[in-house]
Amino acid sequence: MAHGFPWWRHAVIYQIYIRSFADGNADGTGDVAGIISRLPYLASLGVDGIWINPWYVSPLLDGGYDVADYREIHPLYGDLEQAKRLIREAAKQGLEVLVDLVPNHTSHEHAWFKAALASEPGSPERARYHFLPGRGEHGQLPPNNWKSVFGGSAWTRVPDGEWYLHMFDVSQPDINWANPEVREEFLDIIRYWLDLGAAGFRVDVAHALVKEAEYPDAVDDREAVLTTPDGEGHPLWDRPELHDVVREWRTVLDQYEGKVMVAEAWIPSWTRLALYLRDDEYHQTFAFQLLRSPWEAGTMRGIIADAIVATGAVGSIPTWVLSNHDVVRQVTRYGLSPDVEERAWLLWGDESMLDLGLGTRRARAAALLMLALPGSVYLYQGEELGLPEVHDLPEGVIDDPVWERSGHSEKGRDGCRVPIPWTRTGPSFGFGVDGSWLPQPETWSALSVENQEGDEGSTLELYRSAIRIREERLRGDEDLVWLDLGPDVLAFRRGSGLTCVVNYREESIPLPPGDVVLASEPRDDGFLAGNAAVWLKPI
Ligand code: NOJ
Repeated sequence: MAHGFPWWRHAVIYQIYIRSFADGNADGTGDVAGIISRLPYLASLGVDGIWINPWYVSPLLDGGYDVADYREIHPLYGDLEQAKRLIREAAKQGLEVLVDLVPNHTSHEHAWFKAALASEPGSPERARYHFLPGRGEHGQLPPNNWKSVFGGSAWTRVPDGEWYLHMFDVSQPDINWANPEVREEFLDIIRYWLDLGAAGFRVDVAHALVKEAEYPDAVDDREAVLTTPDGEGHPLWDRPELHDVVREWRTVLDQYEGKVMVAEAWIPSWTRLALYLRDDEYHQTFAFQLLRSPWEAGTMRGIIADAIVATGAVGSIPTWVLSNHDVVRQVTRYGLSPDVEERAWLLWGDESMLDLGLGTRRARAAALLMLALPGSVYLYQGEELGLPEVHDLPEGVIDDPVWERSGHSEKGRDGCRVPIPWTRTGPSFGFGVDGSWLPQPETWSALSVENQEGDEGSTLELYRSAIRIREERLRGDEDLVWLDLGPDVLAFRRGSGLTCVVNYREESIPLPPGDVVLASEPRDDGFLAGNAAVWLKPI
């Protein structure tokens, strides 16, 4: 608490999708050595820490969210010694390291699941998961109607006739959190990584942990249920019992200094999301509402205002995010015609509906909006370069299990996971000395770090400046006052006097009084361009 508040409360944290960040050993896959080699870059961005997507031993059937060993690094990425070195080297650069905790499911290659398959129905080995008899005369029907998030039934039958639950891929059996042995094991895993120096955890599908003990059928419309502030509850999403588990974890974190847990909980209701942020639970929960918002001043303002009120009610503060490894990159999202549903669009990728220039302008403006807000911010690797979604990956390279499980009706998330271009040239634009596991578009030479570095007008330098100014002027400042500058304009002043104005219109608007500190589309005629944002300080 060097500044009177914990480090994470106003932090900017950079998300690293390890497979696609930097390849240190020329095998086409990112790795720990690659991250270590790029620590100076991360330090130069000015971020406070990194969150590394799962780097554990895994068959990689869901990008590593199928963990076979929670205490070992995947050999493709390196080993434990390198991971320890990364944590040490990061600390030297002033960077905290968060790791990904995946408590909802293991991989089918985890020792527990192998033991469960080798054991009888009703055995303690099976009790670590959700094994149930089927319905129907011969148990030939799944135990209930629950659907996998990736498509199809959430149940798969094993040869002795029982069914196991997997809310995601068939290779990701859900763990039974009603079992004390499971709880003990995860407390141990948490201690293990904290003892190695990790600053904490991003917790995967934090809202799914506990399932209703009777396994009743679910209403189909999960979104509708999760939107109800005081709803009846859903048998598998956002169960009240999961908060007990979180409190246990928190007790362990509190035995250390400055540790943090951030929840990945896709819950539309603020009242319910705020419950995760109570004093003895998570430190942060992603405010995904902003990420999901269309490019509209009123909608975004409503979200920001609601987030501040809801988190403030439990003494917390929002955690902003515009992008991650699961969603279409914002340059593409904001560049698509408003009537297009982006996931559906990915299937056919009609470029006449995409204006990348517009998407880039809006993404730059959105970055200034987000970085001007009170609270913490998570950036996803490549957003600081203005990378678009790679929507035209050939079918043959698609790796996301969503593609197969949805019967090819959803293309999946590979398009936001294409390796980072570091240099203008080279077989993988400097990602490694050789190729990359997913092909990069030719146009990414211009978006490479090398091409943007030092260019004042580049998106990279915009992010760098914004993070620096945020650090200088906004850290610790939790006040925000809305200003009314007319329709389709969002404006607010922070306690320190910094004003942020975002113009959602196509045409420019006159700027309010103030000296321009930073602008997403700089001009010097007293106007703010359309689809642009500016930061002003009092004259
Ligand atoms: C959320 C992760 O972000 C996503 O990538 C993964 O597929 C699911 N959880 C399942 O672990």
